[in-house]
Amino acid sequence: MKYNIAVIRGDGIGPEVIAETIKVLNVIAERFGHTFNYEYLLAGGCAIDEEGTPLPNKTLEVCKKSDAVLLGAVGGPKWDNTNAKIRPEQALLGLRGALNLYCNLRPAVLYKPLKNESPLKDEIVKDGIDICIVRELTGGIYFGDRGVDIIDGVKSAYDTERYNVNEITRIVRIAFETSMKRNKKLTSVDKANILESSRLWRSIVNEMANEYKEVEVNHLYIDNAAMQIVKDPNQFDVIVTSNIFGDILSDEASMVTGSIGMLPSASLGEGTLGMYEPIHGSAPDIAGKRIANPLATILSSAMMLRYSFSLEKEAKAIENAVFSILEEGYRTGDIMTDGKELIGTVEAGNLICEKLKKGE
Ligand code: IPM
Ligand code: MG
Repeated sequence: MKYNIAVIRGDGIGPEVIAETIKVLNVIAERFGHTFNYEYLLAGGCAIDEEGTPLPNKTLEVCKKSDAVLLGAVGGPKWDNTNAKIRPEQALLGLRGALNLYCNLRPAVLYKPLKNESPLKDEIVKDGIDICIVRELTGGIYFGDRGVDIIDGVKSAYDTERYNVNEITRIVRIAFETSMKRNKKLTSVDKANILESSRLWRSIVNEMANEYKEVEVNHLYIDNAAMQIVKDPNQFDVIVTSNIFGDILSDEASMVTGSIGMLPSASLGEGTLGMYEPIHGSAPDIAGKRIANPLATILSSAMMLRYSFSLEKEAKAIENAVFSILEEGYRTGDIMTDGKELIGTVEAGNLICEKLKKGE
């Protein structure tokens, strides 16, 4: 089959991790007889530099018509002026909003070979960690009314957390469906002791629980959830939460599973078009040094094969190859420990390609 992939390399380590991912996808294409057409597009800081806008129209138009969007990372200190009206991150929010990608799946898995990389003690990690965070992605405070004004002569600024019933219902539905395919345990995270929007959220979760009697549902406040992730991550299977809480919890979960350099994500909407990106940022401090971990982006491409193209076998092949090189002891700097073999970005990509070529 033939698939059109819009590729956004972005800023910082984005181009480096994307280059390795394309290599891996090309091996998949060859081995399984597919054609992947890549169209490279500008977004983020580099688009601000070249086109004066973080999300050029052309980028958006091509993404809309593609079968999937693969993204590296955007942002960096060069564009980090907090007073700036134009910021690289607007590209991400613009794409998520315009493509209606309201569902963000962020699996946080501690791969067995990386057990020692978790900062948590063995007795907490036990057999490994496997959490799926379902984050709402096109609503809440990220997209709510915001502004700066002067009240009684004092400058003030505000952002609004607003959710309607439809926005909550559709994401909670996905979370229940995801739970049914996993261990039938769903934790909804909110701040219902304070926020009205959380109380609406919670009531919808409870209502829908009646349709999914097999799923064990519990609710946690965000502060408690943040604590529980480090105290006992194995109590979680699927977590569903709002845009901002999901942003925070997914970074926390990534650390618990060893490194932020390992975690992929899929942003999905109503159809099969999705956007796939690592959850890490552009890591400007290590950009260009060829030491970035490309595994999160490579694993994101596996999610692309699975969710947008329904190519489960191919997705599994990539995931297995990643697992194998970790098991064989290869480590990029972020997950390096004594006795392992330190590799760079390109070597990591090459090793995975070799595994895939051998059909392992
Ligand atoms: C993420 C990132 C983004 C977010 C930023 C870069 C806008 O942190 O994807 O988690 O907050 O959603
Ligand atoms: Mg984040």
